[in-house]
Amino acid sequence: MTAGADPAPSDPAGLRVVVIAAGSHIFQAAHVPAILATGVQVVGVFDAEPSRAAEVAAEHGWKVADTLDELLALDADAAVVCAPHPLHAELVQRCLDAQLWVLVEKPLAARLSEIDALTAAVEASGRQVAVVQQHRLRAEVVQARRRIAAGELGAVHRAVVTASYPKRASYYVDTPWRGTWQGEGGGVLLNQGLHDIDVLVHLLGRPDAVTANLRTLVQPIETEDTADVLLEWTGGATATVHITSAARLDGNRTEIFGSGGSLRLSQDGLDIRSGHGDFRDFAATAGGHFDAYEVSDWRRAVPHGGGTHAEVYSDFATAWAEDGEPLTTARAARDAVEVIAAAALSSTRRATVSLPLDPAEFDAFLDARIAASPGRRTPERTPA
Ligand SMILES: NC(=O)c1ccc[n+]([C@@H]2O[C@H](COP(=O)([O-])OP(=O)(O)OC[C@H]3O[C@@H](n4cnc5c(N)ncnc54)[C@H](O)[C@@H]3O)[C@@H](O)[C@H]2O)c1
Repeated sequence: MTAGADPAPSDPAGLRVVVIAAGSHIFQAAHVPAILATGVQVVGVFDAEPSRAAEVAAEHGWKVADTLDELLALDADAAVVCAPHPLHAELVQRCLDAQLWVLVEKPLAARLSEIDALTAAVEASGRQVAVVQQHRLRAEVVQARRRIAAGELGAVHRAVVTASYPKRASYYVDTPWRGTWQGEGGGVLLNQGLHDIDVLVHLLGRPDAVTANLRTLVQPIETEDTADVLLEWTGGATATVHITSAARLDGNRTEIFGSGGSLRLSQDGLDIRSGHGDFRDFAATAGGHFDAYEVSDWRRAVPHGGGTHAEVYSDFATAWAEDGEPLTTARAARDAVEVIAAAALSSTRRATVSLPLDPAEFDAFLDARIAASPGRRTPERTPA
């Protein structure tokens, strides 16, 4: 990466951060334990609702800044941004302008135009922006990526992603930014499903076409609570994705099938299965019309592990200490957002959308959705 203006520090635990949106659920549930585990120092916190920042600051003896300007004037190396995602681009830019590295919650932004502007700002600043896409650090995802890169699956033919994030309506109703075009810029795909899509594109690369059916089945929201998406790669591989916050399905998993082997990522770990030779060779050789193509039994390659915010902090702090790149840079975070933006466009148009997507086209789409927004729907069902 480009060198920063300051000499590279050497100790990851010496990283000093300021925190924006310290009152958020995610900061308190995941970032605080990660900060305590990694020894990163908090030199100040801020939240648009001061009482929320004051609460967490009092517990840990951290300074509370009354304004964002006051926070960014503190002597720190990096900023942690945990505000709702439509605010990320503006806040991250403010942090880069203040010469800080940035660790920002996912998604980096709903708009590709904002991600592109931030990527350019990163390059100009010599600082780095890391996005919290912690599933990339799961032991099973790390190993799946290594096996795919080593060619163990042969030619990838098919992937199937199934994930559910069942929510109560109050999850949306009590936090008004959720589930609206203005407040969130997307639905279950952009919020919870971002992780599943990110793992898929991290493993298989960005697809070349997206066809989607997004709908709102149960939740009192204007964006989708249920998504079916077909991804197509030029080489012939396809993936089908079903993600919902409107039902409880049977365990979240990603299955990838190739000509030489298959793998299955679940909350339990990575399972693999190999074929008896590459299927393309089997298909090309002479033999009985009804001969079976043999495959091994599934076996556990690695149990579930990692994927924690503490690992994200370690990766970020090490990148800062070594003046290197974090695992999920602004540029690396873009592919999943592009797929999700294309899915929203595709579903509305009832047509396949080719990638790369024109960022301005998606901006116009999102602006129109926001302008036409009816606001939050009230729940149609009351419990019996
Ligand atoms: N990595 C993960 O697994 C994961 C999990 C949950 C949430 N998230 C992400 O974290 C972000 C926050 O989600 P949440 O559910 O914790 O939100 P939340 O609603 O609990 O908290 C949002 C906080 O942001 C504050 N805020 C709003 N505008 C602000 C501003 N301009 N400046 C400073 N503070 C401001 C609010 O006062 C509130 O305290 C979202 O982008 C979400 O997608 C990531």
